[in-house]
Amino acid sequence: MREFIITPPFNDFEGFERVMRSYGEQIAAVISEPCQGNCAAINPQDGFLQLIRKKTEEYGCVFILDEVKTGFRIANGGAQEYYRLKPDLVTYAKALGNGYPIAAFGGKREIMSIIGHGVAQGGTYTNNKPGVAGAYATLSLLKSKPILKTIEQRGQRLMDGLKEIFEENDIPAVFTGYPAMFSFSLGVESVTCQRDWQESDRGLYLKLVEKAIEKGVMPDHDAREPWFLCYSHSDADIAETLNVYAEIVKEVKR
Ligand SMILES: Cc1ncc(COP(=O)(O)O)c(C=O)c1O
Repeated sequence: MREFIITPPFNDFEGFERVMRSYGEQIAAVISEPCQGNCAAINPQDGFLQLIRKKTEEYGCVFILDEVKTGFRIANGGAQEYYRLKPDLVTYAKALGNGYPIAAFGGKREIMSIIGHGVAQGGTYTNNKPGVAGAYATLSLLKSKPILKTIEQRGQRLMDGLKEIFEENDIPAVFTGYPAMFSFSLGVESVTCQRDWQESDRGLYLKLVEKAIEKGVMPDHDAREPWFLCYSHSDADIAETLNVYAEIVKEVKR
C-alpha cells in the first residue's frame, strides 16, 4: 500500500498544504489522530486539525479522525467535542469498551448509508456480545456520572506533581497531551512532532520507567505511550505514584 499513501509529519502545516496542492485532486481520504498518541501524546498545534478540515473540504477528500485513543477519554464527545471539529468519519475503540474488545466507526449519513448497499462491513468481533455490553455500560456511566471530569482532576494533579518533581531536580521536562492521557519528554524544550520526541532523553525516561516498575508503579506499559488514567485510579494511587517518582528522579540524578 505504501505507494498509495503519503505521510506528512504531524503539525507540519506547510508540508500538509504542499501535499494537498500537489495531489489533492487524487487523494481519497486524509486520516489523522487528533493527538499523536504512539510517541508520548503530541498535541495538535492551534489550527492544524482545522487546516486538515479546510483543505479536505476544498479538495473533496474524506477527513477521517482516528479517535481510537482520544474517544470517550478526553471528553465524552472525544477530540471532536474538545476541538469543535466535524470530520467526515471517526474511528473508536479502547475507552469505548473500557477494556472489552470493541471498535466502532461512524460518520456522515452520505458515507455511512453505503454500508449494506454494495459495501460490506464485518469482522471477528463484530457484534461480539460482551464487547457491546461493555460499551453500553461504559457509555451509560459516562453519561450519568462526572467520570471524565474526575479523571481530568486527578490527572492534572499527577501532571502538576510530576512537573514540580522535575523542576526541583533541574531536569527539563515538556508535558504534552491531556490530563486523562499525557506524557513528558525529558531534556528538550518543545515537542510538536515525532522527531522532537525521538530527540528527547529517552534513556533517562526508560531508566525512570524501570525504577518505577521495581517499586510497583507502571504508568506507561511500554515506555512510549501516554499515561492513561482511569476512573479507578484513586487519589491514593496518584499520591503513591508521585512519591515513587520523587524518589526515583532523585536517584537517577545522583
Ligand atoms: C490511535 C490508534 N489508531 C488505531 C489503532 C489500531 O486499532 P485496531 O487494533 O483496532 O485496528 C490503534 C491501536 O492501538 C491506535 O492506538
